[in-house]
Amino acid sequence: MWQKKWIIGNWKMNGCLKDNAQFLSTLNAFDGKDNVHLGIAAPSIYLHQVREQINPSFWSGAQDVSRFADVGAYTGEISASMLRDCGVHFCLIGHSERRQYFAEDENILHLKIHHLLQENIVPILCVGETAYERENGQEKTVVKKQLSILQGLDTNKICVAYEPVWAIGSGQVASVEQIEQMHTFIYQQILSMLGESVSIRSLYGGSVNDKNADTILSIPYVDGALVGGASLKADTFLYIARTITGY
Ligand code: PGA
Repeated sequence: MWQKKWIIGNWKMNGCLKDNAQFLSTLNAFDGKDNVHLGIAAPSIYLHQVREQINPSFWSGAQDVSRFADVGAYTGEISASMLRDCGVHFCLIGHSERRQYFAEDENILHLKIHHLLQENIVPILCVGETAYERENGQEKTVVKKQLSILQGLDTNKICVAYEPVWAIGSGQVASVEQIEQMHTFIYQQILSMLGESVSIRSLYGGSVNDKNADTILSIPYVDGALVGGASLKADTFLYIARTITGY
């Protein structure tokens, strides 16, 4: 277990310059930073704004990175080195929306994770099963396959986010038992792949809000939360952070 929990906001395709500025000024007044680590994954067009306006003790993050390592003729793509240039600390990869809408599979994510590590950006690898897969008892097989790209990597520099697809944006949060079982499985799986001495940070994501954060964040092996919808309002996001800091 890690000392400080991470509370990471995933804005997805939301925001505008004016609202972002207001959000960041509210966020910057948060005084519980000794107890919790806050980060915002912003749309890439706003990364520079977030970097410029966020309190330097918080993290700015990207929601995706190109699978191509080098600069060049890849229209629309943003490389890991460009993210580094913009001061990005972490980057989500393999979010279920990217797996679903952009057909991202383990081969693509394998490339992305390597490019991020090369630039010293913390990859947050999102894993999780669909409702169909859970109904058919396949959730562990699915997550095991998604975790397989960590083989041979230094997990001290990587974070995993367990996000059951059926819980994302649905208001249907996973039960305490389901979260505990899967986080324990992720932990054991990584130890069996990489050795008993490695450490891994894993966040829970999927309909985390100001009402359930307290319960979720006290589940064993849950080292923080990846928050989508509830991260769009600074007050709600900070309320979640405050549930564990008391600030
Ligand atoms: P949600 O999204 O909190 O709105 O369910 C979480 C995520 O997709 O990361």
